[in-house]
Amino acid sequence: MDDQSTKTPYRSLSVKKCSPHVGAEIGNIDLTRPLNDLELSELKRAFTEHGVLFFRNQKISFDDHARLGEYFGPLGSHVGKKTNSKPSDDPRIRLFHFDEKSERISGNVWHTDQSCAPHPPLGSILYMHTIPPDGGGDTMFSSMYAAYDALSDRMKDYLEGLTAMHDGVPTFGDGTPRAIHPVIVRHPESGRKLLYVNESFTTYMLGVPHHEGLGVLRMLYAHVQKPEFCFRFRWEPHSIAFWDNRCMQHYATDDYWPNVRSGYRVQIEGVVPPKAP
Ligand SMILES: [Fe+2]
Repeated sequence: MDDQSTKTPYRSLSVKKCSPHVGAEIGNIDLTRPLNDLELSELKRAFTEHGVLFFRNQKISFDDHARLGEYFGPLGSHVGKKTNSKPSDDPRIRLFHFDEKSERISGNVWHTDQSCAPHPPLGSILYMHTIPPDGGGDTMFSSMYAAYDALSDRMKDYLEGLTAMHDGVPTFGDGTPRAIHPVIVRHPESGRKLLYVNESFTTYMLGVPHHEGLGVLRMLYAHVQKPEFCFRFRWEPHSIAFWDNRCMQHYATDDYWPNVRSGYRVQIEGVVPPKAP
């Protein structure tokens, strides 16, 4: 795994790891203004190294939010037909608002955002301005690098080269895409292998008997939830979580009804997940 002691220190940002495999909290940065070249290069490096970046006390506008996303690529739009999040007044930004009238929240199954799309999002940036007063609504993240690394060599060999169906219809309704992706993916920037199936969208594996594939998927869904691979982020007002959707799964904890949890999200366009090796 990463050995921070052998790496060049960060010169501008403060980067504090949250757990051995998941996440870093980024300080000494102001996201309400454009970043300089050094800040941006260090932010990109931290994103690749830690998979999800957290920021505190950043009162960002829609323009600030979109600018941060656009440093990493063009902004994308949600592929789901029926979703629990909604468009905001700004076409770049999606509203995530839940309160006593909400019948359910979105994301309380472990998932990769919209892996049912042929080009799933590269990442998402979620900004929360209003948080339940007594806690709740934490977001959990799990490293698919750590999940892959912990598999036996026999299981890695079995999964290598297999593909699986990711179907958006059960979650987002008719008209939502389906896509086939490799089960083991190599991350285009870190170069590391990772496990790329998730309970929300992956419905079956191709190239193996159906029931065998379902059994393996069930085992993998339990595997990715192991606390050893996870970090649980506790929100405060004006916190931001920016996750690499290519290598981290996440889970939105549904424990705060009827309280209000409200914020905004942008997602960044991705590419076809590259198979390993
Ligand atoms: Fe999500």
